[in-house]
Amino acid sequence: MELELAGRTALVTGGSSGFGRAVALRLATEGAHVALVARGEANLRAAADEVARAGATARGTGAGRVLPLAADVTDDAAMTAAVAQATRDLGPIDLLLVNAGGPPAGNFADLDLAAWEAAYRLTIESAVRLCRLVAPGMMERRRGRIVCITSVSVRQPVENLMLSSVLRPAVQALVRTLALEAAPFGVTVNAVAPGFHLTSAVERLITRKQEQTGATREEVLAGWTREIPLGRLGEADELAALIVFLMSGPAGYITGQSITSDGGWVRGTF
Ligand SMILES: NC(=O)c1ccc[n+]([C@@H]2O[C@H](COP(=O)([O-])OP(=O)(O)OC[C@H]3O[C@@H](n4cnc5c(N)ncnc54)[C@H](OP(=O)(O)O)[C@@H]3O)[C@@H](O)[C@H]2O)c1
Repeated sequence: MELELAGRTALVTGGSSGFGRAVALRLATEGAHVALVARGEANLRAAADEVARAGATARGTGAGRVLPLAADVTDDAAMTAAVAQATRDLGPIDLLLVNAGGPPAGNFADLDLAAWEAAYRLTIESAVRLCRLVAPGMMERRRGRIVCITSVSVRQPVENLMLSSVLRPAVQALVRTLALEAAPFGVTVNAVAPGFHLTSAVERLITRKQEQTGATREEVLAGWTREIPLGRLGEADELAALIVFLMSGPAGYITGQSITSDGGWVRGTF
């Protein structure tokens, strides 16, 4: 299938690892220009080199350009500058992936108001900021795709993930509502809701669980996969394939949706 992504400009936040990196790799192999945002400069540079190599291998001289931008999605001035630089160096942004680290784990009793406020800034405010910076230009040019990464917690609360289970549904509501306003301009806005996928974030969770319980890596994984009908965790690239499709030309009639990728974990009928 021709995805019509060659020559498009993408801004991928949380781009140095996990889902963001996997999306950037796929976009580069499709010939898109890719700006990657993350905080840690060393990982960001390594990911940008890898993405540039993937583009060159797939496209040769037709490869897109790759731009690493060290910035924190919760920092207004830094993100405003990052979007401006991406636009200056690569062209107006056609494709936006809204993504970063997730809010910390914890039950209600563990979380003070400062934790709630930080999670609000990371999860909702950063998504609003990115959409404010990018969506008006897309609407003016009558072209654009926005995809937000949320979590299965938008469908069903996840044990010990109070902040995610309360705040991610607000991101989904933003997606649904902004999709209505962007639709007359041909701009689509969607979300993907991942269950457990093997990324560095989940590797860190596995290590923490091992330290807390003394279980082996295999025992921790077995505890999770028992609840997953497909019997395994997902790969980052499996979610990336879905995201890149939602960013593609052929996905132009899909908007306001939340698509779950969880191996069947959520038991709801819809
Ligand atoms: N993996 C899963 O199974 C799973 C399931 C459900 C939901 N999710 C959600 O999906 C998102 C991505 O997860 P992942 O597994 O891909 O995580 P990951 O491998 O840890 O990657 C997170 C990326 O975001 C960047 N990042 C984190 N905080 C940032 C900030 N404040 N500003 C800019 N960049 C930031 C990280 O780089 P720096 O740290 O250097 O900034 C890194 O590039 C998270 O919100 C996570 O909660 C993941």
